[in-house]
Formats: sequence, C-alpha cells, structure tokens
Amino acid sequence: MLIAGNWKMNTDLPGGLALARALAAGVQEAGEEAFADVDLAVCPPYVHLSGIADVLADVPVAVGAQNVHAEEEGAYTGEISAAMLTSAGCTHVIVGHSERREAFGETDADVRAKIVQARSHGLVPILCVGETIEQRRAGNAAAVVRRQLDGALDGVDVDTADDLIVAYEPIWAIGTGETATPEQAQEMHALIRRDLTDRFGDPAADVEILYGGSMKRHNAAGLLRQPDVTGGLVGGASLTADHFLDIARHAAAQVPA
Ligand code: 13P
Repeated sequence: MLIAGNWKMNTDLPGGLALARALAAGVQEAGEEAFADVDLAVCPPYVHLSGIADVLADVPVAVGAQNVHAEEEGAYTGEISAAMLTSAGCTHVIVGHSERREAFGETDADVRAKIVQARSHGLVPILCVGETIEQRRAGNAAAVVRRQLDGALDGVDVDTADDLIVAYEPIWAIGTGETATPEQAQEMHALIRRDLTDRFGDPAADVEILYGGSMKRHNAAGLLRQPDVTGGLVGGASLTADHFLDIARHAAAQVPA
C-alpha cells in the first residue's frame, strides 16, 4: 500500500513547509505501528523539495517531484533534471499526469523518455494513466489506458516491483468531487495489473497501482478495499495533513495483520 500526495501548484514555501511539519507531527503522534504497512509520500512543488526533504528526514514519508525533464542536463530553460531531484532528496517522480498531458502537450513518447531518465537516476516513476469522460462514455476507457501503458512502457524494463508505480486517474474524477466507484476502479486496476503482468512477468504482481481522482477520507476505504487498488494518489485532500493521514489510516486498515 502506498498513499502519495500530489500537491500540484499549491502552497507557497512557508505554507508547504508548515504542511510537511504537520504531516511529520501527525506521523510521529500516530506512532511507529500506525503506518508500518503503508508507504507514504508527498510530491510538493519543485522549490519546496529540499526543504521538505529536511523536514521529513526523520519520519517515514518519502519525497517525490511532480515532473522531470527527459534529458540529462543542458540548455532547457525552466526545466528540472533527474539529478537535481535526487540531490534534493527525491526518491519518486510523477510522470504523465493528465494535467501535463492536457495543458503542456506531453505525449506518450515524452512520458516514456521521462520514465527511462527517472529510472536511470534511481527515481521510482509514478506513471499516471486515465481516460476522459467522453472516452469512457464511448466505451473506450480500457483501450485508452492500454494505449497509454503501451506508449509509456514499451521497451522499459521492470525487474522488481519497486521499479515502477502506476496511478489510474480517470480525468473526469480529478478535482471534481466525483470519484470512480470502487467497482469501476477495480475493473481498471485489474486490467492494468494484467497488462503489467503480460509485459513484465512476476514482478508485476506487486507493483503498486494507485487510484487517483477525488480520493477523500470519506470514500477512501471503499476504493482501497479493492484487491488491485493498492494505494492512492491524492490531490486536494493531501493539502490537509489530517485528511491525508486519515486516508493513510484507511490504507493501513486494509493490510492483513
Ligand atoms: P484530486 O484528489 O484533487 O482529485 O486530484 C487527483 C490527482 O490528480 C492526483 O494526481
């Protein structure tokens, strides 16, 4: 189980550090056992990363970025490299979020190149896939997600379950307050699991497949109870430490004792 927060373009630096401190305090108060079986991560804006990595250094909350450039270094004004991320304390990076695909024109080929680059620096990519409402209504959701997996993962090696994380984020559920039903999520997660297994064999059985899209503390339990929903990529609710940790508690409750 993994609960990861995607803060998107929210919080200024003092606000971000305060949120990270509140998370650290919440994890410490809950005690070692509370989240022993759940991995936690936050993906704040770039400029917060190293400060937040310091704040979270003594608690089991990993730090990830929301994007990375596919090239090693060079004349790419405004971009951030994988080496910059690892040196700032990141272990994870979100790639192919629908907001980047839609607003910044990222293609599957771009996403694939970012995955390869992230992996070459030891960063775990959190690959986002998901369909629009029109694609779902037309009965094309599964085909869209399969195509996104194919475009992003063709030729990529996954040797262990820790080499990759996938997040299924139906675009119609992001920031809308409308979540996929647990059944809709499970159906797509099972499809993703099958696709990964066909591609990578045994390690795919344990690759985390997160659900994202209006996951909140009141609906997280039903989603996380599904066998192939092994975590969440949480947007809005990750901006409040208590809400984020309540979702993590629901994840912990799903792990067999
Ligand atoms: P919300 O939880 O705000 O819907 O965002 C989901 C998301 O896009 C996470 O990457």
